[in-house]
Amino acid sequence: MSTNSSQFRSKLGLIAATVGSAVGLGNIWRFPAEAQAGGGAAFLLVYILCVCILGIPVMVAEFSLGRAGRTDVIGAFINVTPKKRAWSLVGWLSVITPTLISIFYMVVTGWTLTYLWQSLSGNLYSGVTHTGADMGYFTEKMNQYIRTPEMPLLFTVAAVVLNLGVLLGGVSKGIERLSNILMPLLFVLLLIFCGVAMTLPGAGAGLEYFLKPDFSHITPPTILSALGQAFFSLSLGMGILVTYAAYYPARTRLVRTAITVVVLDMLVAVMMGIIIFPAIMTFGLEGHGLAGTTLVFVTLPEVFTHMPGSSAWSVLFFMLLVIAAITSTVSITEVATRCLQDRLNLSRRAAVFWLMIPILFLSAVCSQSFSTLGGFRLAGMNMFDFLDSVTANVMLPVASIGLCVYMGWIAPRKLLQNEMTNFGKFRSRLFVPVLMTVRYLAPLLILLVLISPLL
Ligand code: PHE
Repeated sequence: MSTNSSQFRSKLGLIAATVGSAVGLGNIWRFPAEAQAGGGAAFLLVYILCVCILGIPVMVAEFSLGRAGRTDVIGAFINVTPKKRAWSLVGWLSVITPTLISIFYMVVTGWTLTYLWQSLSGNLYSGVTHTGADMGYFTEKMNQYIRTPEMPLLFTVAAVVLNLGVLLGGVSKGIERLSNILMPLLFVLLLIFCGVAMTLPGAGAGLEYFLKPDFSHITPPTILSALGQAFFSLSLGMGILVTYAAYYPARTRLVRTAITVVVLDMLVAVMMGIIIFPAIMTFGLEGHGLAGTTLVFVTLPEVFTHMPGSSAWSVLFFMLLVIAAITSTVSITEVATRCLQDRLNLSRRAAVFWLMIPILFLSAVCSQSFSTLGGFRLAGMNMFDFLDSVTANVMLPVASIGLCVYMGWIAPRKLLQNEMTNFGKFRSRLFVPVLMTVRYLAPLLILLVLISPLL
């Protein structure tokens, strides 16, 4: 069972850790690409609506379950409704899903470490002889760094080891301390980049595209992709928020915490838009696509060649990415670590090793998806794409629906109310709206996301 040693020590620390989980590559990398595909400002508007109307209530529901359960995700379901044990299957799903995500997320974290390293050593720009080197150069570099066997293997292992080190430190001395240092740094870096983006000649055009909605772009596919993005970005349905909330003290106000986390997470996504769109407008890179690996590993390094001190800018940018990635990977591996500790009564140390050794092995294998093991196919995809696609398209939506149905219909109604009001210490006007959203709106909309590929 969790003891006091596994509690966040300070209010700021718990916010930093939770925001650290939410703010990840989803905000920095996936959001601008999705926003561009969804017509810029139109997407942003729908995204903000999804985050506020659905994201906050579902987050509150996850926090409530976690704090009431006071243990790991599976145990939370068992503790809350001991007579309905079948529901702990949702808990199982909420442990297996993040663990599978962690396998390919470690590989991506490894890529960000590679780029940080290559920027620090100057290699990334070693062949650039003039400003505005062409995209071909960086595509070639990307192939060299990502589509070869050695580099991804080495840096994926580094990512796992870093993660293991933090988890061994425990909740307050590992995760909280790391987040307390890195999250402020992340915001400082973002502010610096926003400042630079504002001075670019294309700033006006970029901001207009990102902030002035053209309502004709609001179509059902845009809405579904904004919803998917909102859930991914807020780390919903991954068991993370349930796990972290078990470390929240009894006095923590869950609704306020959820609003703070959601606002900060959204702010990071908006700041990324403010950075990316002026840059691509200025350098005429609109046609180059922002999806997948292109934005961060090709388009942005190319943008930096136009700026004096390209290497320094790229060091700062990849630092930002590494911070975003690491604070997310520790949260995602904490879910299963806590489970092993509480289900099998293992010490923290044993749990961390029992989890991280298989993850080390599997992510090392996954790091070869674009090179030596490219021919190994699951449902027609390499291992990396397969894990990404099953977790995002099937497992996460199913886990989220399960959680909403559980909190809306199965768990005692009083539980949500008690957690939202800290057992009646204050009133919460949001109780009924949260309950209604978790009961009806959220599961139905997520179900639509789930079945949309079949429609
Ligand atoms: N919210 C995270 C993001 O935006 C999602 C995530 C968390 C992914 C933890 C992996 C691990 O990237």
